[in-house]
Amino acid sequence: MKLLVTGGLGFIGSNFILHLLEKNENLQITNVDAELTGSHNGNLSLIEKNENYNFIKGNITNRRLMEELISTCDVVVNFAAESFVDRSISNADPFLVSNIRGAFTILDLITKAKKKMIHISTDEVFGSLKSESATEEENLNPSNPYAATKASAELLIKSYIATYDTDVIITRCTNNYGPRQFPEKLIPKTILLAKQEKNIPIYGNGKNIRDWIFVNDHCDAIYKILLNGKSQEFYNISGNNEISNLEIVNEILKIMDKSNDLIEFVDDRPGHDYRYSLNSSKINQDLNWSPKINFKNGLETTIDWYLKNSEWIKEIPNNVLNQTPWKN
Ligand SMILES: NC(=O)c1ccc[n+]([C@@H]2O[C@H](COP(=O)([O-])OP(=O)(O)OC[C@H]3O[C@@H](n4cnc5c(N)ncnc54)[C@H](O)[C@@H]3O)[C@@H](O)[C@H]2O)c1
Repeated sequence: MKLLVTGGLGFIGSNFILHLLEKNENLQITNVDAELTGSHNGNLSLIEKNENYNFIKGNITNRRLMEELISTCDVVVNFAAESFVDRSISNADPFLVSNIRGAFTILDLITKAKKKMIHISTDEVFGSLKSESATEEENLNPSNPYAATKASAELLIKSYIATYDTDVIITRCTNNYGPRQFPEKLIPKTILLAKQEKNIPIYGNGKNIRDWIFVNDHCDAIYKILLNGKSQEFYNISGNNEISNLEIVNEILKIMDKSNDLIEFVDDRPGHDYRYSLNSSKINQDLNWSPKINFKNGLETTIDWYLKNSEWIKEIPNNVLNQTPWKN
């Protein structure tokens, strides 16, 4: 199978490519990535010379480039997106470009070329939930600009399914953690600040809840969907592990044997959703998928990875750990 992966130098895309190449030698993977925020050159340095892998620096909004790449692939897996909520609050414009225009460019091209697309979306499209977990049928109710752009792409895809019978599947996943995540996000940021004994900022009272999934479990779910998922369906992918931001930071400090005096409560982010939660019975029943990695083990693996990969960390700009993008 010839796969075109977009955004493969980012966190989930790079783990997905590594996961697939480990599993299956009959895959030919082309990765197109514009090397924007979230990407890291070192994420796929291990496979630069792998003959089943090929990297193209390019933007998914470049219609001519994408048309050429799509003409030689069987399936596009679209990870490429601006992904950091905080930055979408300070400037949503790049989110509209990548997450809506970029997704639309691929959608339109695969429809015309009669190819297939797996589009990676997020639990954030449903907004904050009180006690229930969202099924695939839940109404879209995004409450930050990032989530709104992801929901917009979903609506465009739905309209293409109804109008053109496009061969596309949408996946929505809960919060991922694991190696290779850009350290502006909660878990790697906490690990790297704790390592330097620096204060760890927590928004508001730290009670906001997310459902965390180890990135390899997410990659496994996407692979199952790629092989056996039903066209034009939506699949929710949940880690079944709801935990507050404060509990996560405390758990990391405990594993790293650091004091929780490092925690510093700071102003809450505007529109900070209290809780996200997905019901993933559908993928569990239809594709026999469930998450395998227990949170504590996944967290230990993640901490170990960040502590051992100092070369990778050297390439991260210094200000990333100190910035509060939504205030900029
Ligand atoms: N990280 C999570 O917890 C999570 C959870 C659910 C869904 N998702 C979704 O999964 C996908 C991947 O997320 P991630 O955490 O790996 O993000 P990331 O920010 O780590 O990586 C995104 C990658 O996409 C690339 N990119 C962005 N815009 C592009 C464009 N216009 N053209 C080409 N490349 C472009 C970036 O350079 C980067 O390499 C996103 O679509 C995100 O919405 C993420």
